Amino acid sequence: MPYLVLDKLTKRFGQWLAVDNLSLTVEKGELISLLGPSGCGKTTTLQMIAGFLDPSGGRVTLDGADLLAKKPNERGLGIVFQSYALFPHMTAAENVAFGLEMRNIPRADRDRMVKDALQLVGLGAFGDRYPRRMSGGQQQRVALARAMVIKPSLLLLDEPLSNLDAKMREEMQIELRRIQRTVGTTMILVTHDQAEAMALSDRVVIMNKGKVEQVAAPQDAYDNPASAFVANFLGRTNLLQGTLRQDGGGCRIDVAGTAWPVAAELPAGPGVLTVRPEKVTFVDGAGVPGLVRARVFQGTQWLFEIQTDAGPLTVIRQHDGQILPAENERVTVGWRAEDMRVMAGTAGGA
Ligand SMILES: Nc1ncnc2c1ncn2[C@@H]1O[C@H](COP(=O)(O)OP(=O)(O)OP(=O)(O)O)[C@@H](O)[C@H]1O
Ligand SMILES: [Mg+2]
Repeated sequence: MPYLVLDKLTKRFGQWLAVDNLSLTVEKGELISLLGPSGCGKTTTLQMIAGFLDPSGGRVTLDGADLLAKKPNERGLGIVFQSYALFPHMTAAENVAFGLEMRNIPRADRDRMVKDALQLVGLGAFGDRYPRRMSGGQQQRVALARAMVIKPSLLLLDEPLSNLDAKMREEMQIELRRIQRTVGTTMILVTHDQAEAMALSDRVVIMNKGKVEQVAAPQDAYDNPASAFVANFLGRTNLLQGTLRQDGGGCRIDVAGTAWPVAAELPAGPGVLTVRPEKVTFVDGAGVPGLVRARVFQGTQWLFEIQTDAGPLTVIRQHDGQILPAENERVTVGWRAEDMRVMAGTAGGA
């Protein structure tokens, strides 16, 4: 049975439809990421679950109970906001202890739990510090400890790692994942960072303009994007404009003079072929001709920008000693039919 249910959740700000009929079910213990461009409605969705914004329509239930009927402080949720407002007149430890005091946890337990929580976020030695004497990343970790210490039934995280440096961020990602696995906390994580979402989530929800575009396990969404928008948003991809046609052998798409078989039955007319940069190879035989516009060394890999008649194409090749084309060289590129996805329509219509 689903644990959290969002049913046609909608939020209007005047005429503006910020969240549009959003339905989603989350299982107990699951970590779900809301992913999408700035302004697509992620924070608004979280705020409605938390109770800081009233929905214009729809329902939210947690463990079968109507969540919207409860006041925010009665919902038992842990929340880390995009702006991680700490109480400025309280030390880090007092900030973390606040939720436990509200719940009348005995002093001795409280001190131990606060200590553990600060330890967990790597701030064991910072309990006595005031927020104004901490960096943005440290304050963010205090906010995380404050939300987790109450062992919430549901943890809502809005860009909780945005102010951390790359190394700390990676450590906290692993830590979050570990907590989620061991404690079994159900989490909804909002992030701009698609790599973070893919690394952490059981499932990702890709949002666009207040609507859900796709809900899937990260690898499924990456390999089988439901739309050109998802393909483009989740990692780098190539969108090549082509023409779909039907012939005796079934459906095909013509891209820059090469015909590729299409497994799905799509209507004749404009079509978009998507293929990930790491799936494109330089070939000797038939393929799409192009010109190497740029070649960039990125440490473990090389990145190529190829100009073709169907549009620019990005190619990523591992740095493993193979001989690779130079800038301004004429090349032919190809990919396996099973590595491409084809959709009807134009790339701009995503
Ligand atoms: N109080 C408000 N009044 C009017 N419009 C609002 C209000 N809050 C949010 N919006 C609008 O609703 C849309 C969704 O906002 P939201 O904060 O949910 O976006 P987001 O996906 O969290 O973006 P970001 O990634 O930038 O944080 C935006 O277009 C925003 O301008
Ligand atoms: Mg936001």
